Amino acid sequence: MRELKIFAIVAFFSLLTYYLVEPYAHHEMHKKVDTEGNEIHSESHGFKYDGKPDIAEAHRAKNKALVESKTAFWADVAKIGQLKGNASAGQSHFASCAGCHDANVNMGGVIPPVLDHAGAIYDKNYLIALIKDPAIASNIDHKYKDTGNHPMGAIKFMMPDDQSIADVVAYMLEHKAGEVTPKEAYEEACMRCHAVRYGKLPQLGDTPKFKHEKDSLAHKIKVIEEQDRVKAYMGKLPPDLSIMIRARSEHFMKTFVENPQSQLAGTSMPRVGLSAEGYEKVEAYMVSTGDPSKAKREAVGPWVILFFVIFTILAYLWKKSQWKDLH
Ligand code: HEC
Ligand code: HEC
Repeated sequence: MRELKIFAIVAFFSLLTYYLVEPYAHHEMHKKVDTEGNEIHSESHGFKYDGKPDIAEAHRAKNKALVESKTAFWADVAKIGQLKGNASAGQSHFASCAGCHDANVNMGGVIPPVLDHAGAIYDKNYLIALIKDPAIASNIDHKYKDTGNHPMGAIKFMMPDDQSIADVVAYMLEHKAGEVTPKEAYEEACMRCHAVRYGKLPQLGDTPKFKHEKDSLAHKIKVIEEQDRVKAYMGKLPPDLSIMIRARSEHFMKTFVENPQSQLAGTSMPRVGLSAEGYEKVEAYMVSTGDPSKAKREAVGPWVILFFVIFTILAYLWKKSQWKDLH
């Protein structure tokens, strides 16, 4: 009986530390405050894009004009979200997207991503905002005097009215969705900027197998040239993401992708606008390339626990048999 009591006490304090004390200490030590001492919440918004964090950022910066313009922008986005989009009308507008997005050439710093699964990986509200103004939607408008100078900025002049935006988004949600693999999601959302060395996936996509050393070197040079363009556009070369998912906590990764400014104020990385499902796919790709043995390791877990359970029972029986004559 005594052993059981000791065990219960140890278990109680371990659980207390694990579930209450440690998270509390973590929260206190990682508190983020702005220059005024107000706590900044870098909480996930569930991959919903309604502009609230952006407006809060403008408030913190005490920029009244910015608060007003962002409030108006996201109110417009919400309004367009209410319109009923017509997918077949949206198809003709989508042709103007494809003009840039299917060309596979660098435009102003990056290669516009393939949009084959845009309706599956991006949030609907975000897509509306992006087509209205890519720089404001991705929360990097501070980089531009005139947000029309964003490499996709010309889109503003291609959409005649709000209904056309609703239509082209409806078209994507209907026809550019479908099953998407983790790798495809990653390629469409992150690859134009980040390389994944472990996955042999630089900004130009899968590295072909070359027969001749010369061709292989020529390809390497092309990759370096592309990285130079990305670097000039972003101010620095975005880091390789091979092991980033292991280096950063899950919480960090999630909230960072949702709104990079929340964790790294002033960063040039745009908000990507993934939906919760889209992020899950991208995360799955990063986990599988960065930590290929994870699934195997996790499969071993239950067996280890089972071993300890059996071992405990045996030890207990053994102890009982040893002590039974000692009174
Ligand atoms: C003038 C060329 C151009 C046109 C036209 C254009 N885009 Fe883009 N688009 C780009 C570029 C360049 C990027 C990458 C920008 C970046 O990453 O900084 C981009 C990025 C995107 C992204 C990823 C954005 C993100 O935040 O992850 C989506 C989605 C997208 N475009 C959708 C569209 C849709 C839909 C249309 C048509 C309604 C369209 N684009 C029209 C050039 C264009
Ligand atoms: C248009 C270019 C661009 C795209 C697209 C992009 N990133 Fe980035 N990313 C950057 C840049 C630039 C940095 C470096 C930021 C800095 O140090 O200010 C960065 C940094 C990061 C970091 C490191 C943050 C840190 O703490 O150092 C992570 C993690 C990251 N990106 C994840 C992603 C993921 C995941 C995606 C796709 C969902 C993505 N990025 C898409 C440009 C991009």
